[in-house]
Amino acid sequence: MNDTIRIVVVGSGYVGLVAAVCFAEMGHSVVCVDNDQQKVDALRGGNCLIHENYLPELLERYRNSRVRFTSDLAEATREAEAIFIAVGTPQSGSGIADLSYVEAVASEIARSLTTYTVIVEKSTVPVYTNEWIRKVMERNGVSQNLFDIVSNPEFLREGTAVRDFLHPDRIVVGTDSERAAMVLSKIYEPLTDGSYYKQPDAIDGFCTSHKPPPLLLTSTKSAEIIKHASNAFLALKISFINAVSNLCEAANADVEQVAQGMGMDSRIGPRFLRPGIGYGGSCFPKDVAAFRCVAEQLGVDFALLSEVETINASQKTRFLDKVRSALWTLRGKKLGVLGLAFKGGTDDIRESPAIELIQMLITEGCSIQAFDPAAMARAEQVLLSGPNLQYMQDAYEAAKDVDALLILTDWAEFSHLDLQRINRLMRYPIVVDGRNLYDPNLMLENGISYFSVGRPTKHHVQEFATVGSH
Ligand code: UDX
Repeated sequence: MNDTIRIVVVGSGYVGLVAAVCFAEMGHSVVCVDNDQQKVDALRGGNCLIHENYLPELLERYRNSRVRFTSDLAEATREAEAIFIAVGTPQSGSGIADLSYVEAVASEIARSLTTYTVIVEKSTVPVYTNEWIRKVMERNGVSQNLFDIVSNPEFLREGTAVRDFLHPDRIVVGTDSERAAMVLSKIYEPLTDGSYYKQPDAIDGFCTSHKPPPLLLTSTKSAEIIKHASNAFLALKISFINAVSNLCEAANADVEQVAQGMGMDSRIGPRFLRPGIGYGGSCFPKDVAAFRCVAEQLGVDFALLSEVETINASQKTRFLDKVRSALWTLRGKKLGVLGLAFKGGTDDIRESPAIELIQMLITEGCSIQAFDPAAMARAEQVLLSGPNLQYMQDAYEAAKDVDALLILTDWAEFSHLDLQRINRLMRYPIVVDGRNLYDPNLMLENGISYFSVGRPTKHHVQEFATVGSH
């Protein structure tokens, strides 16, 4: 039996809430703190506010036992052996991470500490943050032997967050204190010793031949950099393949074949080589910008990161140009849009390339019929429906009477549409796919002209003959 540690998680966003219920699943006793009382009440009532696999089940399993929700950080702090700070670090105008939430939490912890507690940075923060947290503690008169600081970055992805948390590739623990390293090792022991995966009701336990994850001990600063560098590297991979896809278009080659050939080199690997309309979400855009700012502040020339951002932004305008080249002019065109979320499997629209593209298309004078399996409610909060934008019930309704159908999010269900039905519904059988979900030949066989990313365009000869025949 592993030891139970009393853990406080501050913040009930993606990282905080997932961490809280997963620590409970690993056998620990958890208090999850949020200063938004409405959120606290919702979570207490079992409403998890986030669209994420396994999260409702775990919340239901533990909300009346091992996980408690509160807005009282001071009280929670007094009971804690380890406090994980998982509050937001939004991007400020210049790109630099806004650490005011982290600072506010650190100050409140400092005012309430009574016994030795490990303070853990779980949010993605710049490399100097641990030093600032230490200063905040000292300025509030907290004795050095009452706390240690650990950087324990989280690598979970939206859509697979619970699984990623419980089955990580690695656990990074950055600290300069042996005592704190021991506490973190104890917390993660059910994963590192493999005992969690043997439990009969473990999430994805028996069904995977999961090797226990390694725990990598580093300095605090190295751990802070590992998180930023990992996300920036993944963003770089995406921008790289997007730049290659542009080259493929110019050379009339097929980027999918190129990515496949590159990915077979085990040094490169096949993942994160999917070309498209650019990366989005709450992490990559923010983290690449923050890492660029960190480099600037430290006087290091890391121009590569600016290039990653430039390629990502231009991928959207290139897609707009593609729609224009498929339709000649845009003003007055009616377009179906499949996908609003920044990627499939989530209702999150933060920094979603789909949302930005819809805004661009409306500015160009198009009217849009949009559908997303999960993100429409959130989208409606930023893109109000009106004469230029309607939200539809399903993909087929979105395709009805349109001049072209655009695929903007890689939802699995968009990759096996009934193409004959789609063809019959559209005014013109034209699909512009920003996610390369289809084999171009299949589209052609179904009488659809198909424009995708980094692959030769397939024009259906009947495209114009079918005008008005639906
Ligand atoms: C990412 C990191 O993967 C995760 O480790 C970190 O903790 C948080 O940020 P997430 O934002 O949930 O996770 O999404 P991810 O699946 O990584 O995708 C990010 C964006 O890149 C999406 O817009 C996705 O569509 C895009 N993407 C991803 C590509 O365009 N091509 C790819 O090959 C992979």
